[in-house]
Amino acid sequence: MSNNESWGSRVGLILAMAGNAVGLGNFLRFPVQAIQNGGGAFIIPYLVCFLLMGIPLLWVEWASGRFGGRHGHHSTPFILDAMDRRRFWKYIGVFGIFTNLAVAAYYCYLESWTLSYVWNSATSVFHGNSPEEVANYFGDYVTMANNNYMPVFFWLICLVLNTYILSRGLSGGVEKAAKIGMPLLLIFGAILAYMAITLKAGEHGAINDGTVGLNFLWEPNFESIWNPKVWMAAAGQIFFTLSLGMGSIQCYASYVKKKDDIALNAVSAGFMNGFVEIVLGASILIPISVGYLGIDRVVEMTQNGGLGLGFKTLPYLFDQWGGVLAILAGVFWFGLLFFAGITSSLAMGTPVMGFLQDEFNWRRKPAAWMFGLTVFLMGLPAVFFFQYGVFDEYDYWAGEFSLVVFALFEVILFAWIFGMTKGWNEINTGADIRIPIVFKYIIKFVTPVMLLFVFIWNLPGVWDKITNDKLYKQIADAASPEEINTLNTTITYVNFSRIFLLLVFVGICYLVFVAYRKRMKEGRMTS
Ligand code: PHE
Repeated sequence: MSNNESWGSRVGLILAMAGNAVGLGNFLRFPVQAIQNGGGAFIIPYLVCFLLMGIPLLWVEWASGRFGGRHGHHSTPFILDAMDRRRFWKYIGVFGIFTNLAVAAYYCYLESWTLSYVWNSATSVFHGNSPEEVANYFGDYVTMANNNYMPVFFWLICLVLNTYILSRGLSGGVEKAAKIGMPLLLIFGAILAYMAITLKAGEHGAINDGTVGLNFLWEPNFESIWNPKVWMAAAGQIFFTLSLGMGSIQCYASYVKKKDDIALNAVSAGFMNGFVEIVLGASILIPISVGYLGIDRVVEMTQNGGLGLGFKTLPYLFDQWGGVLAILAGVFWFGLLFFAGITSSLAMGTPVMGFLQDEFNWRRKPAAWMFGLTVFLMGLPAVFFFQYGVFDEYDYWAGEFSLVVFALFEVILFAWIFGMTKGWNEINTGADIRIPIVFKYIIKFVTPVMLLFVFIWNLPGVWDKITNDKLYKQIADAASPEEINTLNTTITYVNFSRIFLLLVFVGICYLVFVAYRKRMKEGRMTS
């Protein structure tokens, strides 16, 4: 086996794990989810999901990962395989490779926008522009209007950078990146949050104090407890932001030494992510946007997805601050996003590399380049057919649907088949904290039931998605033939991207099958 990676230090491990979790989801997805779900209405379900699903699943994934690592497995197909004698689990584990590739395929593109916007901010590209100009710039950028291929250039830089860092290994690459990126992210975030909260109505053209946006977010709305839509959004956000149901946590944890703590480490990384999300993530984009545009306008801007909000509004708003401050604010904001993004995309690379190293004896470097190449190939449709919804389609199937499915299977495997007696033991081995015993029962009963509920509740939506329900409705309401044309094209691209993703999944299943046969032939035990 050619896989003898390990973490350099505990701080490094926690920073890398926190870097894995802290991503674009904390700064771009969370605020938008919160706005779309009524601001304060979102917070209670969010916190409940964090405690009853997020933290328990973190323990489950860390424990499964360390357990698998002890048996020489670093990717979920064979980590799961080692936990039960039934042979189908390794195909469930395919999710833990598939989602990383499919999420990376669109996530790295998003990450590359942040890099290019650092450059734009540093060179004052947006200086003196109108709000419309800044917003249109973004629209034209991501769709490569007027044959401007800058986005491809930055995307390639981003892919090469990821690949290069991955090829340096865990302690020499991933851990180093986290040790540099995370502190900078916290500093940039703290400065921007301060600027946002102290924003005063009337200064630099702001119409509201920064605190108006904050209050909107934090004023709890207890009625939301009865709204399932808000709950589903909160659960989805918890999955995405903590990188749960992806296979990347298991992979990182599989390199933890067998007697080293995971209980406290998991909570530390989880809380650090929570802190960055609800303190920093909530204190920049919304307070500044609401400060200048007002709540209604901001809500309206996020109606049709909101990933772009930070790109469409902030550069203009920063420009109002004038001079060096405008430049610095832009560099800090997009720089922070870039660090958040890259420490997450690196985490998506490691399970893929672990699989190739464990099963096919690949060396680290070729494995890293294989990941880069696959992400490039899978990313091509998302990048070039962005305007036809391929990007969003990847996000839905890999970044939402698969996470829930995989998490549901793994918690059942862990709590009911591997068994909670062994499981609890596994979580507590080497633990530096005493986890309250209620969590044993939460993991066994509450988390699986909540997951099952989320899964079932989402099924009708999945069906609507498959039948392109929404797109057909849009066609019915369309005003012009051109619009109908675009929508029809969208349907074609969306269908193709689904079939493509399915084929990738099946392809990985085949690789797992080959790996399994190889193990059998070589007499290497799988569990
Ligand atoms: N948690 C990351 C974010 O918030 C996304 C991610 C998902 C990272 C899966 C790694 C693996 O952006």
